[in-house]
Amino acid sequence: MTIDGLLQLHTLRAGAPGAVPLVLLHGFPLDHRMWFDVTPLLAGEPWVLAPDLPGFGTSPTGPDVAQTVGGSGPSIEVMADGVAATLRAAGVDRAVVAGLSMGGYVAMALVERHPELVAGLALLDTKATADAEQARARRLEIAGTVEIEDTIEAVLGMRSALLAPAHRTGRPDLVERLEAWIRDQGPDGVAWAQRAMAARPDRSAVLAAFDGPSVVVVGEFDELSPPEVAREMVGLLSDAELVVVPAAGHMTTIENPEPVAAALTGLLGRVRD
Ligand code: MLT
Repeated sequence: MTIDGLLQLHTLRAGAPGAVPLVLLHGFPLDHRMWFDVTPLLAGEPWVLAPDLPGFGTSPTGPDVAQTVGGSGPSIEVMADGVAATLRAAGVDRAVVAGLSMGGYVAMALVERHPELVAGLALLDTKATADAEQARARRLEIAGTVEIEDTIEAVLGMRSALLAPAHRTGRPDLVERLEAWIRDQGPDGVAWAQRAMAARPDRSAVLAAFDGPSVVVVGEFDELSPPEVAREMVGLLSDAELVVVPAAGHMTTIENPEPVAAALTGLLGRVRD
């Protein structure tokens, strides 16, 4: 969608505009629906904006957003600039920004590139470090595969890896939801995002410089961004709380949404105090 000549990300909106909004940035290879179990549990019906990141859901593609915000090639920075432009078009000049995994990478890029926008930061099941060489090579290989095959089959296996081991067999409903959401994404968006994540830098110094309130949330059984990685981020941040979500893996928002909603509600309160 284009408003005033600016390309907008498709954005789920809830609550009444007014106070500092909560911006929710989804993980890979998903879209805003991964927040659906959390938003009804937020206390006080806050203003919520949950964009689909470039190339996901019904948002414009990464290359189209890059053209609009002035970036070149797949990058987390283009995603962050697209989010910033969308927020500003919605009249937002300060927000509590929460990102899960890939959404966390984008949230950290927002802190770096648009610090005035980020009044509070929630990092869920994510990491500040860049990929190791092997992980980067694997992402580029997957990007090539989904493009050549023209399907997202190569990332479908993530539907189990995203969950706690007990949920992979014990919660077929979660596996099915993830599969449906992943199948709704396109190969071009998946490939672009894999290349963007492969290119991302270490943002540990960005966290160390952030002086607003923050919360780091991690699933007890997250194997992709484990609790020790979350503790390292808490150590870097100056005003951070740690919330370890019981019985959850990487997808805390659907595996155990109550503690996630409580953590986000608490952060909104700290920003408004
Ligand atoms: C995610 O959940 O967004 C992914 O695990 C991010 C990644 O591949 O690093």
